[in-house]
Amino acid sequence: MAPPLPLVFLLMIHVCVSGVSSADWGVSYSPSHICALKDSSVIMRCTYTYPTGYKIKKVFWTKTLVKHNGEHPDLSEDPEYSQRLQYLGDKQKNCTIRLSHVTLKDSHKYYFKFNTDKDKWIGYPGVTLTVTDLQVESPERVTEGDSVRLTCKSSCTLTDRATFIWYRNSQPLTERRDRNNELLLQSVRREDAGRYSCAVHGHNHISPAVQLNVMFHHGAGRNVIVIAAAYGGLFFVIVVIIIIIIIMIIQRKMKSRRSALHKYENDDPSADTYTALELRSRSSDLYDTLTTIHPRPADHQSSSSEYEN
Ligand SMILES: *[C@@H]1O[C@H](CO)[C@@H](O)[C@H](O)[C@H]1NC(C)=O
Repeated sequence: MAPPLPLVFLLMIHVCVSGVSSADWGVSYSPSHICALKDSSVIMRCTYTYPTGYKIKKVFWTKTLVKHNGEHPDLSEDPEYSQRLQYLGDKQKNCTIRLSHVTLKDSHKYYFKFNTDKDKWIGYPGVTLTVTDLQVESPERVTEGDSVRLTCKSSCTLTDRATFIWYRNSQPLTERRDRNNELLLQSVRREDAGRYSCAVHGHNHISPAVQLNVMFHHGAGRNVIVIAAAYGGLFFVIVVIIIIIIIMIIQRKMKSRRSALHKYENDDPSADTYTALELRSRSSDLYDTLTTIHPRPADHQSSSSEYEN
């Protein structure tokens, strides 16, 4: 079932004609999308072709398709780039550049342009650069015994060769990695609490640190402390109330005794000092003293009249 001869002939002509017309002018970027880590150096690989017989006059990169004074702005003349941009290519076919110390602001499309003695060519659609920083994603609070997964997040996918490094309180960790950018803490302990940050091996950029708090298991240990503190406070209040009551009772008793001593003084002046001392020693037993005092009819009357007032 071979195709008819005229069709083969037509196909051959088409291949030859298109080969001449479109393969002669072109720029290709490899890769066409780049994800780069903040502060790193990026190499944008690029090759270009043009028909034989043309002479290259100027090669440069630009980040805008809008012309300024009849030409695309040359990136190497942009003060934001001039110090960081290095043309690694040549004036024949290689248009590779290196951009160092990339910032988030460098996220852009970049185009290579070359001018010959006759024609100009801009390599549309360009190479897309995305610059990312790193962020640790973690649960803010975990409970002792939980399995915790921390993720080192980037806004674009870094190459498969990127090896992530983890830090706790600025110390590198050797814990098991689940996936490349994840840190798995199995059965988390209180010692696992701390400030976590991540980085990519061979790069300077380190993520901001994120605090991981580890709580006691179903809050039991904590509750004991809370309950103990509550009971402690209650106990203190009860003790203070008891002391106040004792002081009041003693004061009242002293008052009653003073009136009682007056009686003794009237009966027998010489017994005064001895009786006072004996009563003071007895007063150490409060209840005993109270029973001693209450039966006196004189006291009953004076105290009841006090209440009436
Ligand atoms: C272009 O130049 C770069 C840097 O010198 C080099 O790494 C790359 O291999 C070259 N590409 C080609 C296709 O020659």
